[in-house]
Amino acid sequence: MNAIQAIRGMNDVLPDAVSAWQHIERHVRTLLGAYGYEEIRPPLVERTELFRRSIGEVTDIVEKEMYTFDDRNGESLTLRPECTASVVRAAIEHGLLRTPGRRVWTMGPMFRYERPQKGRYRQFHQIDVEIFGIAAPSAEAELIVMTRRLWKALGLSGLSLELNSLGSRDIQARYRARLVEYFSARADALDADSSRRIETNPLRILDSKNPSMQALIEEAPRIIDEHDDDARAHLDQLLAMLDEAGVEYRVNPRLVRGLDYYTGTVFEWTTGELGAQGAVCGGGRYDNLVAEIGGPANPAIGFAIGLERLVALLDVQSVELPVAMPHAYLASAGPRASILAHAVAERLRDAVPELRLVVDAGHGSFKAKLKRADRSGARLALLLGEEEARNGRIAVKDLRARGPQSMVSIDDLAGHIVRNVFAE
Ligand code: HAM
Repeated sequence: MNAIQAIRGMNDVLPDAVSAWQHIERHVRTLLGAYGYEEIRPPLVERTELFRRSIGEVTDIVEKEMYTFDDRNGESLTLRPECTASVVRAAIEHGLLRTPGRRVWTMGPMFRYERPQKGRYRQFHQIDVEIFGIAAPSAEAELIVMTRRLWKALGLSGLSLELNSLGSRDIQARYRARLVEYFSARADALDADSSRRIETNPLRILDSKNPSMQALIEEAPRIIDEHDDDARAHLDQLLAMLDEAGVEYRVNPRLVRGLDYYTGTVFEWTTGELGAQGAVCGGGRYDNLVAEIGGPANPAIGFAIGLERLVALLDVQSVELPVAMPHAYLASAGPRASILAHAVAERLRDAVPELRLVVDAGHGSFKAKLKRADRSGARLALLLGEEEARNGRIAVKDLRARGPQSMVSIDDLAGHIVRNVFAE
């Protein structure tokens, strides 16, 4: 029979790779907790309407990338392509917005039907962070210094920060009109995608990766030139905060994002070390979204980090990861010894709660089991044969040092392990 394979663009994270994921998850949890963020876990599936209304009808995500299906009741549901919309929905539904300055985060899989390639998948994972109720640029500054600290904690270097301000909806409407005018006057030079976008979403033309479009985009009007006093003051204040905190950044007036809910500041952390998919973190302010989804007017801002890309960067930068090898590997051989093995192991686990211990009490010879013990990376092999079982003893072999094995009474085994493995 044919073996069933995983769906294209949806990856298994195998044991070898998991230490990188855990390294990130551990640091994220500690760091976000330290900055006062609370974890929330919204469902993976929402009403399609939620994403249509928040991400925008004429974005790539909503037009062609959503996994949408009717459930058995005929209701249109969608696997979340991102989770800001879900977090906002949950925050409104459960009254989280009543406390101003509420900081929340979540982590998990997102689904987009994109063309799979290196760094771009159909199921991918994000760490998503949101702040509600802070209109001042201190919210932006906090998110940015916090991400900078995260990169450092993870052992990553060389990430650059780009930011822009898309301004209020009024500014966006004025800018949109300027862009339509500009690109329409040069319609002959546009590629097919951009021609289509003039009508639907002209800002997205600025995000085109097509080399033949770059000169035209370079000369296009800049949104910063449409800013009013408020938008200018907000951006200036943010930049002053970043300067004071020693954060390096580049203001990129062409930075637009793939989701329509942004107003005001947008930003991305990118790396040149991952090829075409260099954005590891993107976010921005979305002061209108809460009201657009039906909640009380509430300023908000957030970002999401792409976990697969962060894992790839740890690999490219050869960051050393802590690997949790077993401390000990208990191998038994013989009928009585094998019956005893789990009981001995449980006594050890009671006595030394931090002990990582693998039990190999199945069929087979000591020789084969010793080989497996060695391959497991364990420091000690604990060998329990029939004779040892009879005498209440166990042979302990240090797999990482040459030397004879020692016989230890089972009653003293926990103490022996603590002295030899944990005391160093
Ligand atoms: P986004 O820019 O669409 O923003 O995604 C954020 C990050 O997720 C990207 O920078 C990238 O690292 C990763 N990512 C996106 N698509 C893929 C993919 N197909 N495969 C692998 N990684 C991917 C958002 O999703 C917003 N919700 C961020 C946000 C939160 N804005 C405000 N709050």
